Formats: sequence, structure tokens, C-alpha cells
Amino acid sequence: MKTLIIYSSRSGNTKKLAEAVFVSLNEEDTEKTMVSITDLPVENYDYDLVIAGFSIMAGRVEPRMARFLASFTQKTKLLLFMTHGSARGSEMAKTVMNLAVNLVKTAEIVGCFSCQGEVAPNVLYKLGKSANPPAWLGEGENAKGHPDDKDCKELIMLVQKTLRRID
Ligand SMILES: Cc1cc2nc3c(=O)[nH]c(=O)nc-3n(C[C@H](O)[C@H](O)[C@H](O)COP(=O)(O)O)c2cc1C
Repeated sequence: MKTLIIYSSRSGNTKKLAEAVFVSLNEEDTEKTMVSITDLPVENYDYDLVIAGFSIMAGRVEPRMARFLASFTQKTKLLLFMTHGSARGSEMAKTVMNLAVNLVKTAEIVGCFSCQGEVAPNVLYKLGKSANPPAWLGEGENAKGHPDDKDCKELIMLVQKTLRRID
């Protein structure tokens, strides 16, 4: 069994989840590799499970990950996870996860996870002062401290469950 984690992260929230999952993977259960989207391409995608993490940027899948997902033509199993300032389970979170799912062509999506990710105060301030403050901004205030230990544990549990299922 071989697992690859790919993440795109600008302020570290998605990376925090990626690292928590990476550390949680037991070498006896799966070989594991983790790369930042900035270090692609990897040599080959001969993995049983690819776990891809990204954030929402301006109502969309973070652009580097969007390009990666759209160009990913492997038939492997794929688990997606996402961080965002908007509330968990919000329309925005659901919509953007759907956008990500729809970018995927050949891989089999075996799981999706999303949670809030802290938005830097200067970003909240700047967006708040803009001519059209985004609707999610109020929810973004509550993202402070996320992803937290509980978020990390939830994703780890989903990954463990997925690995047991595809073993
Ligand atoms: C320029 C910018 C735009 C953002 N746009 C959205 C958005 O449209 N919806 C949302 O829910 N969160 C938005 N966020 C919040 C990020 O998705 C959130 O903080 C995420 O956890 C960042 O992940 P990262 O630290 O891995 O880059 C935005 C953040 C920035 C900096």
C-alpha cells in the first residue's frame, strides 16, 4: 500500500492538516510520501491512495490545486480535504468542494473532508474594507484557531477508515 499526500497552502492551515495525517500514517500499514504543490511533479503517481488538500480562495478551489486536479489523469483513489474561512457545512464550503470533485476526471473519489482555517486578521480587515465584502467574512472571524486538534483527528479518522476499506 502506498499513500501520497499533496497539499497547497498559503498561510499554513491546509499544511497543518496534511502534516497531521502524514505523521499519523503507520509505515507498517502504508508507505507514505508528502509533497507541497510547489514541489510537483512527483516522479510517478503509482499510489493506492492520493490525498489532496487545498483551501478556498475567492470562492474557488485554490488555483494551483485546481490546475493539478484538472490535469490528474490517474485512475487511483483520491481523498480530498479543504480548509476555508466560511462556516463548516456552509453553502460556500459545499459548492467549492463540489467544484473540486467536478474537476477530477479519472480518479475515484473515496472521501471528502472540510473544516475552517483561520483567516489572518489583515486579510479579514482588508476584505471588510473592500467595496464588496464577501458574505463569508462574518464566519471567517470564527475560524480562529482552526484547524484545531479536533479537526486534525477527524481527518485522520477518515483517512484510517479509507485505508482499511481499500486495503
Ligand atoms: C485572499 C483570500 C481569499 C479567501 N477567500 C475565501 C473564500 O472565498 N471563502 C472562504 O471560505 N474562505 C476564503 N479564504 C480563507 C481561506 O480559505 C482559509 O483561511 C484557508 O484555511 C487558508 O488555507 P491555507 O492557510 O492552507 O492557505 C480566503 C483567504 C484569503 C487569504
